[in-house]
Amino acid sequence: MNHVQGVKATEPEGAARPCQFVIFGGTGDLALRKLIPALFSLYRESRLTPGTRLIAVSRKTLNNEAYRELLEERARIHVTASEFRPDDWEAFLRIAEHVELDASQPDQYTKLAAALEDDGKSQRVFYLATLPALYHEVCASLSNAGLVDSSTRLVLEKPLGSDLASAQRVNREVARVFDERQIFRIDHYLGKEPVQNLLALRFGNSIFEPLWRAAHVDYVEISVCETIGVEDRGGYYDRSGALRDMVQNHLLQLLCLTAMEPPVRFEENAVRNEKLKVLQALRPLEGRTVREKTVRGQYTASAVDGREVPAYYFEKGVSAESATETFVALKVEVDNWRWTGTPFYLRTGKRMSKRFSEIVVHFKPVAHRIFQDTGAPHISNRLVIQLQPDEGVELLLNTKIPGQGMSLHPAPLDLNLADAFRRRRWVAYERLLMDVLRGDSTLFVRADEIETAWSWIDPIEAGWEAHYAHPTLYKAGSMGPDRANELIERDGYQWHEALAADS
Ligand code: BG6
Repeated sequence: MNHVQGVKATEPEGAARPCQFVIFGGTGDLALRKLIPALFSLYRESRLTPGTRLIAVSRKTLNNEAYRELLEERARIHVTASEFRPDDWEAFLRIAEHVELDASQPDQYTKLAAALEDDGKSQRVFYLATLPALYHEVCASLSNAGLVDSSTRLVLEKPLGSDLASAQRVNREVARVFDERQIFRIDHYLGKEPVQNLLALRFGNSIFEPLWRAAHVDYVEISVCETIGVEDRGGYYDRSGALRDMVQNHLLQLLCLTAMEPPVRFEENAVRNEKLKVLQALRPLEGRTVREKTVRGQYTASAVDGREVPAYYFEKGVSAESATETFVALKVEVDNWRWTGTPFYLRTGKRMSKRFSEIVVHFKPVAHRIFQDTGAPHISNRLVIQLQPDEGVELLLNTKIPGQGMSLHPAPLDLNLADAFRRRRWVAYERLLMDVLRGDSTLFVRADEIETAWSWIDPIEAGWEAHYAHPTLYKAGSMGPDRANELIERDGYQWHEALAADS
């Protein structure tokens, strides 16, 4: 395939003001694994305005030098060798500082105030990569220390609550100090290139929109499958589970982008209003329907690639009798004019046989077949939007097999984004951090979206508790419980990998 030559993305206005970028949880895993490497990339490509400072806040006793050593140790793991150029790295380290502070102690914020002495020109960003239970105390203390004005921005990491009531509490408390337009709630899936490309595909081309509705779409599947387990996050994960950890945020956001009406423009509230309408149109899953329309799974021990993988309840930090789900599949219905009659099947899990994330739109079969039946598979068209590990779009078509007669066989029209545009791919956090610096919250989640998502999730949790208390077991290294196949096959459909194996 030809690649697109010499194309440059039009750069939106950069952040004109230098920034005082403060990370609470500055020695935590997220900061060291994702945020620092992303900021380093932006720095290396001169996207940070000169004069920008990075101030990491944590309870650890570290002077700047020791903090910089910690950054370097972790950067050697998380920044690719080709990007880790010593000169750039040395220069980047000079903008990084550490402030020792216990975020739960209001009197300690004077230390931060001293470090952030107002220079009259810098934009302040506070990134809370810390325990959500601390969000309101941090916001109140920042305000009391005189560190917040109308231009200050606040970035909140997930999890934003564990149910509707707790999410409302966080939103309410944060709103005492910050206006909604100052708040950036991160869902890193929205920072992924192929996720934004879904919007480009739908609203930058005229050919899909007329077909993008129940009259032409049989069903849609959204899968985010991981091979990793809970790693060292067992303590958090065991209280959360796949429904809260992945479905409430990432999968519902993907569903919103797939199902939403065209926004009038690509702009903060226009996009978020349309996503909100999708969340409001989700048919509730509650009571006994949860047994019929959802599958909860938990992985058991198995040998995967010659290695013994422990059962979930033997993972570090997980309780021995845990009933937390590590897999979820759901049949979701969107009750509106566009989608009534088209089911959306959502699925996510840990320790699955293959890592992939994709959205598959299955179109209806042709109304009448005119070609002789040769026994070859005759597929319905499907559009596969691959999010990871490959980034691309594939449209599966029936095509004629060359030669005598009119025998058809499925073949893909294939767009591989990495091949098409040979440029460095931004990782999600780079894009999202840059948007924060520019003050663009289009790809961030608004308070009402979060709350509406939780109000749909809570009845599922309640239904599980009452009617489906024990997750169905599946072997680590498999595609989840058989019930997940039954969920979709009952309606006469199949998951994409099963269909792909047949065609
Ligand atoms: C996080 C979840 O939000 O997303 C993790 O807490 C999950 O459990 C991760 O592994 C998946 O993100 P990605 O970008 O690796 O698909």
